[in-house]
Amino acid sequence: MVNPEPESRRQSAADLARAHGRPSLRHEGRQLALDYGDGIAFTLHPLWLRERTQEKSAFDPVSRQRLFEPAGLDLDVAIDDITRSAAGRITILFSDGHAATFDPDRLIDEAALDRSNDGLPAIVHWDRATEQQPPVAFCDLDEDAGLLEAVTCFLQYGFVLIGDAPVAPGTLKTIAEKFGVIRRTNFGELFEIRTEPAAEDLAYTAQSLPPHTDNPYRRPVPGIQLLHALVNTADGGLSTLVDGAYVVEALRQSAPEAFDILARTPVRFRYEGPGAILEDWAAMIELDSAGGFRSIRFSSRVDYVPALPPGELDRYFAARQHFSRMLNDARFRHVFRLEAGMAVMFDNARLLHGRTAFDPASGARHYQGCYIDHDGPHSLFRRLGGAAGRTSP
Ligand SMILES: [Fe+2]
Repeated sequence: MVNPEPESRRQSAADLARAHGRPSLRHEGRQLALDYGDGIAFTLHPLWLRERTQEKSAFDPVSRQRLFEPAGLDLDVAIDDITRSAAGRITILFSDGHAATFDPDRLIDEAALDRSNDGLPAIVHWDRATEQQPPVAFCDLDEDAGLLEAVTCFLQYGFVLIGDAPVAPGTLKTIAEKFGVIRRTNFGELFEIRTEPAAEDLAYTAQSLPPHTDNPYRRPVPGIQLLHALVNTADGGLSTLVDGAYVVEALRQSAPEAFDILARTPVRFRYEGPGAILEDWAAMIELDSAGGFRSIRFSSRVDYVPALPPGELDRYFAARQHFSRMLNDARFRHVFRLEAGMAVMFDNARLLHGRTAFDPASGARHYQGCYIDHDGPHSLFRRLGGAAGRTSP
């Protein structure tokens, strides 16, 4: 099942407005209305306009930052005069004496923005039965086109597979730094995933790992994980991924009470190892201010619900069990073998990952892993022109 998010209706309004040509300009009280006809109009507040001035005296063209303090502007600033050039640009004289020229297309693009339209690709929910199989990108990451393809796949699906990488230790550092800055933790800059006699983490054993997100006890939680297979000759040890955002929406639809409990009950996540004692509290399902999915923290070995009243605990444990069964349901799981020379990058706030058990006597399995944060791929996508058509203020 492929379930792209709908385009923002407000952004569509900006595109629709542009198709109508130049707007007529009129005052609506203190506001400026850009009227495109057919009922399409944008009403803009004078102070909202005033603080968007990009005149040289007020805006640094290199850093693209303001040179003035917007909180110091007159709250009652008004529009004294509006003129339009032959090219369609609008010059506004404000009541504080400042004159600023604007491109109306840029104004309506910005007026149409909201958090649901951040200029990044719409996410695509997936499960095992998805018609459009999740991406395997044998990308040439040395070329901008290959990088853009990889980062776009990642932003849509929450993960991307990268093939044809060398099997030399340290290769992951080169791959990760194509996308962002490596976030070093107490597990190191690159961590080694292979069986160890006295493992600091279950990842370093041959046991199966159920779907989980990494490091929910850390603040902030690492945003993105990368894994690179150096050797994989052992029987078993298949990689698993689950689209947590999709399962959360399925939970919201099928079991709204369980969804509510998991979205509003902070639990304690804790790690205690030789090099670090880490703890943070959070609900397993984090929502944004509009109630949409923001992130998931799910790691069944390190979560500790507080001692709530018995009835609340009954409901919490039932909700967690229901959610866990959904996350472990094979219909949501993508299973694949990360062969030597392949790497995978996945969103640790959206996807859960795991692996099947493997037999260490049958062969070797050695991965390297590391973390980066979301800002890296987001910036890369924009720098490579993936947000073409999106204007900056
Ligand atoms: Fe993990």
